[in-house]
Amino acid sequence: MKRSTAIIALSAGIALGSLMTTTAFAAELAIVAGATGKSIEMLRTQLDAFEAKSGHKVSIVTMPSSTTDQFGQYKLWLAAENADIDIYRTDVIWAPQLAKHLVDLTQATKDVVGDHFDAIIESQTVNGKLVALPLFTDAPALYYRKDLLEKHGAKVPASWAELASTAKLIQDKERSAGNSGIHGFVFQGNAYEGLTCDALEWVKSNGGGQIVEPDGTISINNPRAAEALTMAASWIGTISPKGVLAYQEEDARGVWQTGNAVFMRNWPYAYALGNSADSAVKGKFDVATLPVGKSGDSSAATLGGWNLAVSKYSKHQEAAIELVKYLGSTEVQKQNALLLSNLPTIKSLYDDADIKSQQPVIPRWKSVFLNAVPRPSAPTKRSYNEVSKEFWTAVHNTLSGNGTAEKNLAKLEARLIRLKGDGWK
Ligand code: GLC
Repeated sequence: MKRSTAIIALSAGIALGSLMTTTAFAAELAIVAGATGKSIEMLRTQLDAFEAKSGHKVSIVTMPSSTTDQFGQYKLWLAAENADIDIYRTDVIWAPQLAKHLVDLTQATKDVVGDHFDAIIESQTVNGKLVALPLFTDAPALYYRKDLLEKHGAKVPASWAELASTAKLIQDKERSAGNSGIHGFVFQGNAYEGLTCDALEWVKSNGGGQIVEPDGTISINNPRAAEALTMAASWIGTISPKGVLAYQEEDARGVWQTGNAVFMRNWPYAYALGNSADSAVKGKFDVATLPVGKSGDSSAATLGGWNLAVSKYSKHQEAAIELVKYLGSTEVQKQNALLLSNLPTIKSLYDDADIKSQQPVIPRWKSVFLNAVPRPSAPTKRSYNEVSKEFWTAVHNTLSGNGTAEKNLAKLEARLIRLKGDGWK
């Protein structure tokens, strides 16, 4: 109480006497976050502003961009009740698995939660406890090279089959004209959470369900799902480089942004970066929703997103909550929308004039994320990471030519049944 009163007084510019300094009341906080694109640079600028306003100091612990690697490390730290990290930037899928280590933000954020989309707040609520405040939401796009499609008289593909044939046509024509580095399609094919997202899209948009359904039923071993994975396996070494089997988001973006891909599946963050001054594809691309399996099927985008959580083991929980509220605020989410093309979780920002004119993709993507497919993290509860790992392993094996889709999905089903036991816990 005493500390926050002093901080408010300071930020209001009230003179407190020459002997009183902010350091007497200031906390030293640490936030841990994965580095993707320019997100860490941006975070530092925002933390500088927070430090100047609050008198607290904040350091960033930077992690690899892979959500799978981050999750592994964070689980170890939290299990060890590590007090060195105050704030975690958390993936939308982690809430049920990390809940018991995180501070309940319900009371502290009751003045701001109503600004966010209800469904996103719900995704971070576990047994009535708000475990993280949303920072941005995510839903992928099909990035395509406008210039190349126009040059070769091609349309934006509506189905995955059309994507494969257009990618092959343009790749072959460009290569024979001397553009030897070009690839038809890049995506996230490494064995990690990113592949779960991509493959869920292929399966769901082909009428093959969503791995484990919202009621907990294991649905993945079905002919439509097998057909979708067989189709994706046919891309490897034809329209996609063999190396795609090791690509994460940043690898795909690297190929795309140097002008070496006709199509890319990626999240909205790649939009602002693709239009940055040093990008070879600046002004040459647009985005569309992901293709469908067969006519009559609907496009499926996996729901992603990042949030801010306070560790129960933090010794500065009050200051940490203050920072979480600042980073999740309308002001900061607007900066992230304008400069990083991150999709806000605050409803009013979809009508913001600056965002509309500077990042038109954001209002266009509102209906995409509102209709996005969640991964089965809520129904599989504390087993989600294992479920996802089993799924991405089966998919990676199929893409690598290690077993057919049918065989790998049958094996996957047996493993998931074992994992579920007498019910997801
Ligand atoms: C993006 C999404 C996140 C997802 C990850 C997979 O960062 O926002 O939800 O888990 O990609 O690589």
